[in-house]
Amino acid sequence: MIILGIETSCDETATAILQKDKDRIIILSNVVASSASLQAKYGGIIPEQAAREQIKAIIPVIEKTIENSKLKIENLDAIAVTFGPGLIGSLLVGVETAKTLAKIWNKPLIPVNHLLGHFYANWIDVAPPKFPYLGLLVSGGHTDLVLFTDHGKYKYLGGTRDDAAGECFDKCARLLGLPYPGGPEISKLAAKGDHSKFKLPIPMTGSKDFDFSYSGLKTAVANMINYKRLTINDKQDLAASIEETIVISLIEKIIKAVKKYNIDQIMIAGGVAANQKLVSRLKTISHKLKTILHVPPPNLCTDNGAMIASAGFFTNPIQNPFILQADPNLSLTND
Ligand code: KG4
Ligand code: ZN
Repeated sequence: MIILGIETSCDETATAILQKDKDRIIILSNVVASSASLQAKYGGIIPEQAAREQIKAIIPVIEKTIENSKLKIENLDAIAVTFGPGLIGSLLVGVETAKTLAKIWNKPLIPVNHLLGHFYANWIDVAPPKFPYLGLLVSGGHTDLVLFTDHGKYKYLGGTRDDAAGECFDKCARLLGLPYPGGPEISKLAAKGDHSKFKLPIPMTGSKDFDFSYSGLKTAVANMINYKRLTINDKQDLAASIEETIVISLIEKIIKAVKKYNIDQIMIAGGVAANQKLVSRLKTISHKLKTILHVPPPNLCTDNGAMIASAGFFTNPIQNPFILQADPNLSLTND
């Protein structure tokens, strides 16, 4: 089976063609166009501007994806598209394009929840993960801990009460004068710093639930910056401390959930899963807990069309493509 995946929930215009033969899912073509360099100038995403860029990019990106795959439109078996959550203008570009193409090419249309889609980056080009597994989604908009028992079947354990982990990286980066997206920038700076120099509060440490919270951490960083004129060495140390604090807070909840639910597989997904400190720390923990760790390659952690096509292999198409509506507020708790 061959699926074209379309992802436009935030500032990327990303499409990919994937093939599934028996258990193996492989990428035939994967194109990502991002307006992040434009957003970098403003320190964050301007939704209207992101959608305008996506309107310009969507058709050329799809054409390039088909061309790179060396396939013809007839070879596609279905179209999978992100229908939420995300920025409404951005989602509409992908959803309306997918609906139109499904109709004129006469292909089934598969609606994919972007949040579930992230996890399916872990199903590409590897032996399929086994259920049940604990999933942590850490992205710019979400921090969710979920226990998966099958495709589309899961128990929601907890999530952030305010800012997402990626959002905290982005906001702290901005406070430090670094460009958007802030996660990779903080990471780069942190590599030269010493995390023990600045003591930041570890959010929700010792709490009995599986929730997260990052707005307090951002405020603590803002207060430190206001209180002291930071040298470049201070900025490196503070960046190291921010990264360390976020990583510790995520790992604490993973360990707790693995023990409580007696799980032997951990899966992480989303842009922050590209953070190498988080990954290397999780590898050590996973070894100690005797669990198997699934982490996508960094280019499949951030938003991409391949994860949406991959999720499409395990999701039902809708009968009538025209009834599909973008849902900016879709979550893992309401579908
Ligand atoms: O999954 P994603 O591409 O978009 C959303 O669905 O939100 O995630 C983007 C987020 C941004 O907040 C970005 O700063 C963060 O992922 N990010 C990272 C790294 N790479 C991207 N955070 C920490 N370390 C990284 N290496
Ligand atoms: Zn995402």
